[in-house]
Amino acid sequence: MNAVLVPRLDFMPMAAADVPAIMETENRIYPFPWSAGNFADSLASGHSAWVCREAGAMVGYAVMMLVLDEAHLLNISVAAERQRGGLGSRLLEFLFEEAKAHGAARMFLEVRPSNASGLGLYRRFGFAEIGRRRGYYPAHDGREDAIVMARDL
Ligand SMILES: CC(C)(COP(=O)(O)OP(=O)(O)OC[C@H]1O[C@@H](n2cnc3c(N)ncnc32)[C@H](O)[C@@H]1OP(=O)(O)O)[C@@H](O)C(=O)NCCC(=O)NCCS
Repeated sequence: MNAVLVPRLDFMPMAAADVPAIMETENRIYPFPWSAGNFADSLASGHSAWVCREAGAMVGYAVMMLVLDEAHLLNISVAAERQRGGLGSRLLEFLFEEAKAHGAARMFLEVRPSNASGLGLYRRFGFAEIGRRRGYYPAHDGREDAIVMARDL
């Protein structure tokens, strides 16, 4: 029987030194990416910010804000060439555990109605739409609403 080698994922706290590599992915996968300053502000604010590495290479990252018993997912991203391979799910499951370990009972997030991958991921994990924020995001032809979603942890 052949051995099956499953590459290990490491979840490391995001550091300022990670931001340049993060920005390469960020600029590639979002029409309206965060700036390096947004990541620096997240680190300065003490948000729960993580980099996911496989054999040392960064394959994803995420930022969430933890306040009392609520977690707010601010960014979850998988490198373009690694999407649809289960990494987003692994990252989200890691965040659920991290949020619960800090006393969060519910996770909230915003997503663009046009973001099929984001919506697909969140629905798969049982997030339900709880509202809309009109014109929340910049868009190429004006503004785009945000769907607000939540899930118990
Ligand atoms: C959203 C994202 C993090 C998902 O990561 P991923 O590694 O591709 O996700 P997974 O492979 O774990 O997929 C989990 C589920 O998400 C859904 N999904 C993922 N990509 C999808 C796509 N392109 N279209 C529709 N559903 C998709 C599916 O339900 C999928 O399950 P399945 O493969 O069994 O059908 C990734 O696509 C990404 O980085 N997108 C760009 C950044 C972004 O939009 N982030 C979310 C901001 S709100």
